[in-house]
Amino acid sequence: MKVNDMTDFAIQTEDLAISYGAVEVIRGVSIEVPKGQFSAIVGKSGSGKSTLLGIISGLENPDKGRVLLNGTDIFALDDNGMAEARRRQIGIVFQSFNLVPSLSALENVLLPVVFDDKMSKPDYEARAHDLLSQVGMNDRASHRPGALSGGEQQRVAIARAMINQPTILLADEPTGNLDETTAAGVLDLLTGLCRDIGTTLLMVTHDMDIAAKADRIIEIKNGKVEQ
Ligand SMILES: Nc1ncnc2c1ncn2[C@@H]1O[C@H](COP(=O)(O)OP(=O)(O)O)[C@@H](O)[C@H]1O
Ligand SMILES: [Mg+2]
Repeated sequence: MKVNDMTDFAIQTEDLAISYGAVEVIRGVSIEVPKGQFSAIVGKSGSGKSTLLGIISGLENPDKGRVLLNGTDIFALDDNGMAEARRRQIGIVFQSFNLVPSLSALENVLLPVVFDDKMSKPDYEARAHDLLSQVGMNDRASHRPGALSGGEQQRVAIARAMINQPTILLADEPTGNLDETTAAGVLDLLTGLCRDIGTTLLMVTHDMDIAAKADRIIEIKNGKVEQ
């Protein structure tokens, strides 16, 4: 895949729009997210934040507009190209952790690379253990999600999002299901990890205290960027 490294932007959207039935949820959103920074998307519940993140991550097809990831127009790629672009460029962290209950923490972290052969299995396992160490969870590598607290599950989910060494980490209310103290720890972990590796972080939050820690804030109101 050809990646345009000339752009300073990890993510650019151009005039994105999507409707569900008669409801226009995203109405002409153009944003630019600089590489290596922490940008926050804020807005009231129902304003379209998760929908926007879903389009940026390629999970949802917009009715109109483009998404460029590191200069590459992802919706112009064929299915394989899109899957490859997503795998190589994006990690995603969800509010509800989304770990597979029947798998151990280690197996959950390895899940995105189960079918990858770019590295050997032991090399992937070594990387997974290293990531679990970085999020303070390697001593729980063999535990299943049910044996872990919410904050611990989210730490494992962060390690999983990083296994492909993505250039962009997308997070949708990643601390929304956690108590205040745990949330602060997970937030510091996520922002610190991204800063250390130079990963671009785009986080959806309705919490202005969290957004205040970002380099840039993008406010969404009724499906549009509020200037
Ligand atoms: N798949 C869908 N089908 C129908 N309506 C949807 C769908 N996804 C989102 N919506 C609607 O779009 C609006 C924005 O939702 P969402 O992006 O989840 O907002 P936010 O994340 O800002 O709370 C809401 O009114 C929601 O009901
Ligand atoms: Mg949402």
